Amino acid sequence: MQTTTITIKKAKRLHGEISIPGDKSISHRAVMFGSLARGTTEVTNFLQGADCLSTIDCFRRLGIEIENTPERILVHGKGLHGLTAPSDILDAGNSGTTTRLISGILSAQPFVSTLTGDASIQKRPMKRIMEPLSMMGAKIESLSGNGCAPLKITGQPLHGIHYHSTVASAQVKSAILLAGLYAEGQTMVTEPALSRNHTEIMLKGFGADVKSQDKTAILTPGHDLYAQKVEVPGDISSAAYFLSAALLVPDSEVLVKNVGINPTRDGILRVIRDMGGNFELLNEKTSAGEKTADILIRTSSLHGVEIGGEIIPTLIDELPVIAVLAAYANGRTVIRDAAELKVKESNRIDTVVTALKAMGCDIVATDDGMIIEGGRPLHGAVIDSHADHRIAMSFAVAALVADGETQILGGECVNISYPAFYRDLKNLICP
Ligand code: S3P
Repeated sequence: MQTTTITIKKAKRLHGEISIPGDKSISHRAVMFGSLARGTTEVTNFLQGADCLSTIDCFRRLGIEIENTPERILVHGKGLHGLTAPSDILDAGNSGTTTRLISGILSAQPFVSTLTGDASIQKRPMKRIMEPLSMMGAKIESLSGNGCAPLKITGQPLHGIHYHSTVASAQVKSAILLAGLYAEGQTMVTEPALSRNHTEIMLKGFGADVKSQDKTAILTPGHDLYAQKVEVPGDISSAAYFLSAALLVPDSEVLVKNVGINPTRDGILRVIRDMGGNFELLNEKTSAGEKTADILIRTSSLHGVEIGGEIIPTLIDELPVIAVLAAYANGRTVIRDAAELKVKESNRIDTVVTALKAMGCDIVATDDGMIIEGGRPLHGAVIDSHADHRIAMSFAVAALVADGETQILGGECVNISYPAFYRDLKNLICP
């Protein structure tokens, strides 16, 4: 149920520093792979968002002891064959990553599990994992018969496949690769465009034999996983709101610290540059295969751009806030090849277009994206978040530059990926 209305007014200026909380995708994977590894995996800068807590909860129910303290997470892994049958239904909450990745693992376990989630999860498409996992020998049933959760998964002996995915989805790719850890023979996934590669990087770090060749990931089973120390980089998807706010609010300068800039995730930086945005990457580092940097960003005069093709998977979660940037940029922005937006936590083509229209933007939805005629001044409005964290945060940014006041209904959904979001944003706003 949506409960909290957040009110945000136009801001004069943003100034200061912000350290970005841990990456959601990497936090999930650290708990999952740590559970399947031998020994104790220590995770620092773990994202304490509701989605990642759902992953912890599911693995605890599968018999893994996980200690969660503010400083670090300790995952006491039991090896590839150490999970035990859950005594209850596994609840993935709002998390697509938990639902899809754990399905790959459960498909190969010697027990039956039932997996469900909230109202949004029960509408999101699971056929995209049910099909390839079934081809590997898995037995997965959608209990409502509509290709969505709840899913009943009866573990089976699996065999490797070469899957040509029609969608560029890291969740699909990862579910198949995780099942591949247990399969007989090699498992390969070829994507139409390369999606985020955190699974390939981290699984390799844990000792799996994973190779990437262009748009194909190849996993050869037969290797145990071993516990690792994982320092989770800041989430570029969370950084995106501060980068955007600093670009749009007049006279701003913000240092956004510890941002993961893995090239399969950094599309927003390329789009900001194309739009004329002014930023510098400082303090670049690589840790366990993941690149990070601090980003110094200033108010910039932006212009419209065309966004489509292979860049889309590298900025899929940032498209709502990119649409906000486009609404304030001069000229036309076209977003295409992004039909995946329709099957996220909300239908993000609909939710973004409706919300920007309510603020006075000239915008139309298309089948696979939207067309935005930017540059008109926007005004405050009542925005329904549809319980979608990325919609709430994107429109908090839009509100900072709109005339008057904006109300965000169900604003508490930021807990999914960024519990301290409003506090961190407020800290940057100059009086
Ligand atoms: C994620 C992959 C993406 C992304 C989601 C997290 C992941 O979803 O939108 O927020 O952690 O693998 P798809 O794989 O469905 O594109």
